[in-house]
Amino acid sequence: MITAQHLTKRYGDRAAVDDISFVARPGRVTGFLGPNGAGKSTTMRMLCGLTTPTSGTSTILGKPFRALPCPGRSIGVLLDASAQHAGRTGRETLALSARLMGLPAARVDETLAQVGLTDQEARGRTRTYSLGMRQRLGLAHALLGDPAVLMLDEPANGLDPAGIRWMRDLLRGFAAEGGTVLLSSHLLREMEAVCDDLVIIGGGRVLAHDSAAALLSGPSTRVRSEDDGALASALAGAGHDVERADDGSLATTAATHEVGRVALAAAIALTELRAATTTGLEQLFFDTTAPHGREEISA
Ligand SMILES: Nc1ncnc2c1ncn2[C@@H]1O[C@H](COP(=O)(O)OP(=O)(O)O)[C@@H](O)[C@H]1O
Ligand SMILES: [Mg+2]
Repeated sequence: MITAQHLTKRYGDRAAVDDISFVARPGRVTGFLGPNGAGKSTTMRMLCGLTTPTSGTSTILGKPFRALPCPGRSIGVLLDASAQHAGRTGRETLALSARLMGLPAARVDETLAQVGLTDQEARGRTRTYSLGMRQRLGLAHALLGDPAVLMLDEPANGLDPAGIRWMRDLLRGFAAEGGTVLLSSHLLREMEAVCDDLVIIGGGRVLAHDSAAALLSGPSTRVRSEDDGALASALAGAGHDVERADDGSLATTAATHEVGRVALAAAIALTELRAATTTGLEQLFFDTTAPHGREEISA
């Protein structure tokens, strides 16, 4: 479990993080989503004691990070995969940390296997690693102490599609065993595929925080007809949500074939019928962050 309560970080007179509160629960993957500069990394640094909040508090497994007796055994953190000592090999990096954490040397081989780094790769110096290999090594480092909580900042960066799928399976497996996962990403589709819960932030503030299912269950069909008023009533009568979209068409939760059936039964001629082109999360993300996001957002 991770809790953030009213976390705020000011740099000068600008708030990088402005009164952020959320909970990441055990057994669930919580996605921390927002455009560049939204305050994701700053929040994560506060959660693991690397940045002191201007105000607010946070806990990991019920305790402030600094009160954890051996932090690496409670929470595994991957913040910046390039921050590894370039002159050490991957294996040395892990072995040193294992020794500092009082872990058996065998944990090094176990975690290397877990993240799919071969023995030969582990013997290479990290300066020769690709970004994808650094992410795997960083994840091995996070998993080393067998923690109950994982916190990963943009872990999919630098991974190829197969690597992203592998990461997704690993995080889902970790949560399925009761672990808590908090990960940030700007890869919208990836978040949609892996997250149970979403915390969407923009301009340092929480814009939405709910289960992914609740946030994504928006209208999926757009329709126009010769009598939108009657069609809206018929759709509502059949148990579907209906609202007027920005472009003047009706937006409904009914699937396209269901809209066709309802219109036929009500003898209303359709003039346009289509599935919404963006995914629910994409639309939600753009809707909720549009006033805040200046930077490019890639899907
Ligand atoms: N050490 C710092 N000093 C001044 N401003 C900072 C510092 N760290 C982050 N910021 C600013 O805080 C905002 C949030 O940054 P960050 O947390 O890195 O966002 P994200 O990870 O969502 O891209 C940005 O405007 C960034 O420029
Ligand atoms: Mg960041």
